[in-house]
Amino acid sequence: MNVLLIGSGGREHALAWKIAQSPRFTRLLIVPGNTGTGSHGQNVPFPLSDPEALVDLAQREHIDLIVVGPDNPLADGFVDHFEAAGIPAFGPTAAAARIESSKSFAKEIMAASGVPTAETHVFDSPGEAAAFARESGKLWVVKADGLALGKGVIVPDDLPSTLAAIKKLGATRAGSRLLLEERLQGREISVLALCDGKRMVALPVARDHKRLGEGDTGPNTGGMGVIAPVDEVTPALLEQILTRCMQPAVDELAARGTPFRGVLYAGIMLTSDGPRTIEFNARFGDPEAQAILPLIEGDFLDVLYDCAVGNLNPDKLRRRRGYAVCVVLCAAGYPGRPRRGDPIRGVEAIDDNEVIVFHAGTAIGPQGLCTSGGRVLGVTGLGPTLAKARANAYQFAERIKFEGKHYRTDIGKE
Ligand code: AMP
Ligand code: GLY
Repeated sequence: MNVLLIGSGGREHALAWKIAQSPRFTRLLIVPGNTGTGSHGQNVPFPLSDPEALVDLAQREHIDLIVVGPDNPLADGFVDHFEAAGIPAFGPTAAAARIESSKSFAKEIMAASGVPTAETHVFDSPGEAAAFARESGKLWVVKADGLALGKGVIVPDDLPSTLAAIKKLGATRAGSRLLLEERLQGREISVLALCDGKRMVALPVARDHKRLGEGDTGPNTGGMGVIAPVDEVTPALLEQILTRCMQPAVDELAARGTPFRGVLYAGIMLTSDGPRTIEFNARFGDPEAQAILPLIEGDFLDVLYDCAVGNLNPDKLRRRRGYAVCVVLCAAGYPGRPRRGDPIRGVEAIDDNEVIVFHAGTAIGPQGLCTSGGRVLGVTGLGPTLAKARANAYQFAERIKFEGKHYRTDIGKE
């Protein structure tokens, strides 16, 4: 099978690595790709602005399946173009991807299908949201409706910071519509399921660590590290999450004539009243993919294809025993403006049963491998226990050197 993969992050390196292991795999093109994806296929430096140019490329190169990694091309309807050209694509159409690209739409789907979530109020102006926050006498989570590069949610601790959050998000493009959401308490997990429009198959459950600092302190980031699987999620709890918090939304989208094909990623809060969905994403999480994909066995590429054509067979996927811990190594300045061009040492092409290094923000400079983005590398340790996976990840993370390198040392620590 010839595959075209879209994206350039650590998630796409993990996808390229996994796809290239498939028995049915022949050739991979990655648009635009990164230093890591280049070792599994050919990077094509195309801008990600013109879906029709990608259709031409796919036709010229006899592509059998297109896999879309990031949220923006999904929200922009790239899959609609591929489908119109008759090229199978893994990822939702723009209409189905609205479950991520519009938080108010996601809430509407949850309400219509009975998915348990947080009480939510939607406002079309910051003034109305501020008035409601003042009068309600409660604390709310403030969210921008649209895609905001992971910066669209603020969890304030008092009224003045709530009003400041409304002002800040209300001034952004994503925040032309705002949501005020009941603040839920509990531990969070990421539940990702491959979906063919009707059926779903869950991938190993993951826990992301979004805050920059140790012990979940400091500003939010795209994700500093992930563990998978999460032991507190028993098979019975996972079944409950799938049937109550995810499948009804998939059924609702299908009933509306916009079936969801791709990976549905539910952010779930384990509250004292049971699991509740706080958000849906329409793509693989990053860095979640870097911990989840190494735990999957079976013909992954085949299953992606089956999802794309609406014919998922859940028995084709198996879970590898053991645990994965992914630690993200960040550049100086992240999550603000990252410094680029710092030479990186100590990354050999290690790919065995104990550690895998995924590239995200790296480039080849005059002196070889160097930093070129905020989240530079994802180091995934594997092991029969969480402690062993964690030890493997950190042992290797310490060996990688670059100026300004920083990372959390508590990923997977009980
Ligand atoms: P998001 O960018 O949508 O993933 O949200 C960022 C983080 O905000 C989530 O991972 C949660 O920790 C937090 N959050 C979002 N919604 C809620 C909520 N309703 N109650 C408590 N925390 C929330
Ligand atoms: N790691 C969080 C996300 O991909 O949205």
